[in-house]
Amino acid sequence: MAENHAVLRTEDLRKDFRTGEVIVHALRGVTMTVSRGEFLAISGPSGSGKSTLLGLIGGLDTPSSGRVFIDGVDITHLSESALTRIRNEKIGFVFQSFNLIPTLTALENVALPIQFARQRRFDPRRRAREILTLLGLGDRVNHRPAQLSGGEQQRVAIARALANNPPLLLADEPTGNLDTVSSQVVLEALHNVRESTGTTIIVVTHAPHIAAQADRRIILVDGCIAEDALNGAVAQGLQPTSEQAHP
Ligand SMILES: Nc1ncnc2c1ncn2[C@@H]1O[C@H](COP(=O)(O)OP(=O)(O)O)[C@@H](O)[C@H]1O
Ligand SMILES: [Mg+2]
Repeated sequence: MAENHAVLRTEDLRKDFRTGEVIVHALRGVTMTVSRGEFLAISGPSGSGKSTLLGLIGGLDTPSSGRVFIDGVDITHLSESALTRIRNEKIGFVFQSFNLIPTLTALENVALPIQFARQRRFDPRRRAREILTLLGLGDRVNHRPAQLSGGEQQRVAIARALANNPPLLLADEPTGNLDTVSSQVVLEALHNVRESTGTTIIVVTHAPHIAAQADRRIILVDGCIAEDALNGAVAQGLQPTSEQAHP
């Protein structure tokens, strides 16, 4: 374990998309460092590059230039098999749509990635029950997705993402399909996870009230970091750790 490294660092990350004659500069030089156990919100208007950034951090796509370090390892020049291994071991993903398997119970959905792990570190059903309980779903383990509310389904999806205990959880608009009350429950569940497991959490959201509840908030505008600030009381005496070059 590379304990002395930041769990995540990006250096001058850029991403261009070409569609025919048109080039979109989705990310235009994002440099940031995220510490172990931090709860970071990335917000900003639609089209500002939030999902692109999260996809590059999670190794789902490769940057046009710049680098991404996960636990000190540069993932931008890895073989596909090495990258897959980092993704499986280090990163949990949550998306706006819950993507649960409808025929499996909550417990079975969460146990699945443990059963498929290259090195099995946990007893699948026991671990699944534990993590579902941590997310407030101890009495829902035998329900199928259709028998659960949206907020409950999203918490099952979060439990599944955490099944193999990754150091980094990435969530793209996890409350985008939820009403205000369910959104708040999901957010509180994420805070519980961070408190009890020390998982680093990065949530992409366009909702300011969600971003305000993280430790730290980065605002993207046109593919650049426009603001990087610590929220609330945490901010006193601390400085954010991103080093955005000011143009
Ligand atoms: N696969 C793609 N091909 C072409 N353009 C893309 C692709 N993905 C994203 N973009 C463009 O990049 C910009 C940033 O997109 P995105 O990261 O999805 O923004 P956000 O998540 O903040 O709404 C947008 O202009 C979008 O149209
Ligand atoms: Mg998006």
